[in-house]
Amino acid sequence: MILLIGSRKGGCGKSTTAVNLAAELAQRGKDVVLVDADRQGTAANWVEDREDTEQPRVHCVQKYDNIKSTLIDLSKRYEYVIVDAAGRDSRELRTGLLAADVLLVPFRPSQPDLDTLPHLSEVVSEAMDYNPGLKCYGVITMAPTNVFIQETKEARELLADMPTAIELIDTVICDRKVYRDAISQGVGVTEMENGKARAEIQLILDKVIA
Ligand SMILES: Nc1ncnc2c1ncn2[C@@H]1O[C@H](COP(=O)(O)OP(=O)(O)O)[C@@H](O)[C@H]1O
Ligand SMILES: [Mg+2]
Repeated sequence: MILLIGSRKGGCGKSTTAVNLAAELAQRGKDVVLVDADRQGTAANWVEDREDTEQPRVHCVQKYDNIKSTLIDLSKRYEYVIVDAAGRDSRELRTGLLAADVLLVPFRPSQPDLDTLPHLSEVVSEAMDYNPGLKCYGVITMAPTNVFIQETKEARELLADMPTAIELIDTVICDRKVYRDAISQGVGVTEMENGKARAEIQLILDKVIA
């Protein structure tokens, strides 16, 4: 299965989502490869840091520009191919969409992130002409944990009014220090002592691989 994590925005939690889903799959004993298709190299650095830990291995491949055939090839060798695609309307995102089973779009509950969704939805619809099996989910990330802040609710309402090919997942990834700590140590939050973050990642993984 090829799971592409992508959006048109930097800093919305793509790499964080990708490495956490990969770590959780590895913990479940699955055969998983992480494809770093962003020249920033966040996912590849995480895999390198992970080699110094006792956690189950995640393999990594770095590939840029047209990634379609690499993804198809890897999907024959691995059970799960998780792709961290570059932000922007990148070639990696567009070619990845032609091979992916699922696109997962992380976005923050903020206006600039929401503004990118209609165009992304068009890109997804075009990709579906060539890849009709493609499923597309959105997940709100870095949501404030403070219940008095209404941003997440407002983002949901805005999205409900938008005609889009992106199905919003009920589970939200909150802004938690453990996500920053985990990524800097080469582990996933499900490998650390934080039940709330663990539940977020496990529920999202269950939804996207269902
Ligand atoms: N849920 C979260 N809680 C706290 N910090 C987060 C969370 N998700 C991402 N971050 C931090 O925000 C920054 C951007 O996240 P990153 O995953 O690198 O985004 P992208 O890959 O989309 O550019 C990083 O410093 C990361 O550690
Ligand atoms: Mg990144």
